[in-house]
Amino acid sequence: MAVLASGVGTNLQALIDQVHGRDGVRIVAVASDNPEAQALERAAAAEIPTAVFGRQDFRGDRRARDRAMAGWLREQGAQLVVMAGYMQLVCEEFLDRFPDAVINIHPSLLPAFAGLDAVGQALAYGVKLFGVTVHYADPGADSGPVIMQRAVSLPDAREPADVVPHLQALEHQMLPEVVRLFARGAVRIASTHPRRVLVGPLAVLPER
Ligand code: GRF
Repeated sequence: MAVLASGVGTNLQALIDQVHGRDGVRIVAVASDNPEAQALERAAAAEIPTAVFGRQDFRGDRRARDRAMAGWLREQGAQLVVMAGYMQLVCEEFLDRFPDAVINIHPSLLPAFAGLDAVGQALAYGVKLFGVTVHYADPGADSGPVIMQRAVSLPDAREPADVVPHLQALEHQMLPEVVRLFARGAVRIASTHPRRVLVGPLAVLPER
């Protein structure tokens, strides 16, 4: 698998600690749009090859950037691509290079609060239930089919610090779990419904 990350990289670290080199899973590449991303240091410390595909390097041409990145990830042997705090959209051509094998993690119960600052949006709305979604990536912002969701009830939350640690704890469990499911071939989109994702035994049994 490969990981795309733009920032601190705590989700990448959870993947390095919990799945890298186990259960038939290996992180073969970490790519970023941000040369300063701490995620790159975490990858280097784990001796995982890294590369930066900055927007400026391609004169703002997103498609050219994504084409180069997909080529590099394929060369490294990636079969699954995990967007873990990657602050860019990926274009259709990129997704076509990894059919049904690009996933993203988002700190809200989608379809609520897609896009930037999901926790801030949820607090502004005044929700009592927060959560995390792992979903297939599509060309939109946080709009692909849902693979896994988990929620936490925080009725008294007032500010991001009341919420973020709870969501991070969920993220650091969920992402490794989903990757292990992919490695077992236990995640697929239902042939009868393009938004229904079958997970676990459902994915390996014939559809009802
Ligand atoms: C996570 O909350 C993830 O859901 C969101 O960006 C954040 C990345 O955190 N898409 P980190 O860089 O993995 O620490």
